[in-house]
Amino acid sequence: MDEKIIQCLNELIALDLACAAAYEVARGVCKDEEIQGKFAEFREDHLRHVAELGEHVRRAGVEPPSALDTKGVIIQGFTTLASQEDRTAVLAMRGNEELSNNAYASALQAGVPEELRSLIAANFEDERRHMSWIRGAVLLRGWDVEQPELRELSAEARGTRRAA
Ligand SMILES: [Fe+2]
Repeated sequence: MDEKIIQCLNELIALDLACAAAYEVARGVCKDEEIQGKFAEFREDHLRHVAELGEHVRRAGVEPPSALDTKGVIIQGFTTLASQEDRTAVLAMRGNEELSNNAYASALQAGVPEELRSLIAANFEDERRHMSWIRGAVLLRGWDVEQPELRELSAEARGTRRAA
């Protein structure tokens, strides 16, 4: 397998590992059982991607990543900081899903060999399903408004709010 393709697969694996770690963090702060259940399910999907893509990398004689890289540590750290409760956890994961949706979309456009294409396409569909559920959850719960903490921060920065 082309070295470029192996690198592309390893990047997807690293991002799937990061998303799995982020879901773990986000699930830990959620109280809503439906969200917890979905986050557990999505985490499993990401881990399955890690295992299945890793298989192809190994077959090419390369050891796939098994721990978070620098970007993964940042994603996990950001998710830990941003996730305070259900709403902020879902919004943080929406950002992470955007990254993984884009990464899979780029991989599909990168001209992967035929034997990998269906696997990457299937994973991309998982990512689209994750994003679609998150978008629905945000709408359903009325979280599709500017985050109150951002409004507060802006008011503070403009000096229109006195410090308590
Ligand atoms: Fe995902």
